[in-house]
Amino acid sequence: MLDKKSPLPMYYQIEEDIKQKIDSAIYSERETIPSERELSEQYEVSRMTVRQAVTNLVNEGYLYREKGKGTFVAEKKIEQPLQGMTSFTEDMKQRGMNSSSKLLDFTIIPPPADIKRKLSLEEERQVYEIHRIRYADHQPMAVERTFIPVALVPGMQEKDVYGSIYEYIEKNHDYTIHKATQMIEATIADEEQAELLDIVPAAAILHIERTSLLQDGTPFEVVKSSYRADRYKFISEIHRS
Ligand code: GLP
Repeated sequence: MLDKKSPLPMYYQIEEDIKQKIDSAIYSERETIPSERELSEQYEVSRMTVRQAVTNLVNEGYLYREKGKGTFVAEKKIEQPLQGMTSFTEDMKQRGMNSSSKLLDFTIIPPPADIKRKLSLEEERQVYEIHRIRYADHQPMAVERTFIPVALVPGMQEKDVYGSIYEYIEKNHDYTIHKATQMIEATIADEEQAELLDIVPAAAILHIERTSLLQDGTPFEVVKSSYRADRYKFISEIHRS
């Protein structure tokens, strides 16, 4: 099983073996893996070595521990490409997952200063503030606070934002959504976010802020999103030269 003569440390070889068992579904998602005692017998190493391997895999998000219950295989993270400007609804559809939203708040407000600036709004313009939990196959993935100028999308109602806001805007207003700037930052969940996302407080969160423009260059939305870091990772292709 393990190559005791290899220069690779034992804990590392165990990690690789466990990862391979997760990949080939010998250990399935949300199921327990064998106990430390069982693993140390199986690999013929000390429990400390096993613990180190398991702890590393917990820290990397492959496994998670539940007090008194054992160590479980985490669900695979969703890999989100960073290139395309897609909507949450499109992202989920592409993966064969079912998207839905819970509307927490839908109000019309004078824009906070940073939103006003990012949307290049004049003094008196109002914005919709739409606060939603986004679900994939009924599991909460993100909470999003979206700001859209009322003047650009007049008459938008609560019923219009349960599904895709992008689809609503493009279909009902004959706009073409063109491009966005996006910022991603690591944060930790506060109590409210943790409750909404069904994670423990202080769990890792990916805070994403997007400012989006229509074809003619008009900014039409600012979105502040908090994505679960245990369920998401972002990938991009990069070129040298
Ligand atoms: C993603 C982006 C948001 C964007 C949203 C639109 O979640 N992070 O910035 O507003 O998609 O999604 P939908 O059209 O499904 O409402």
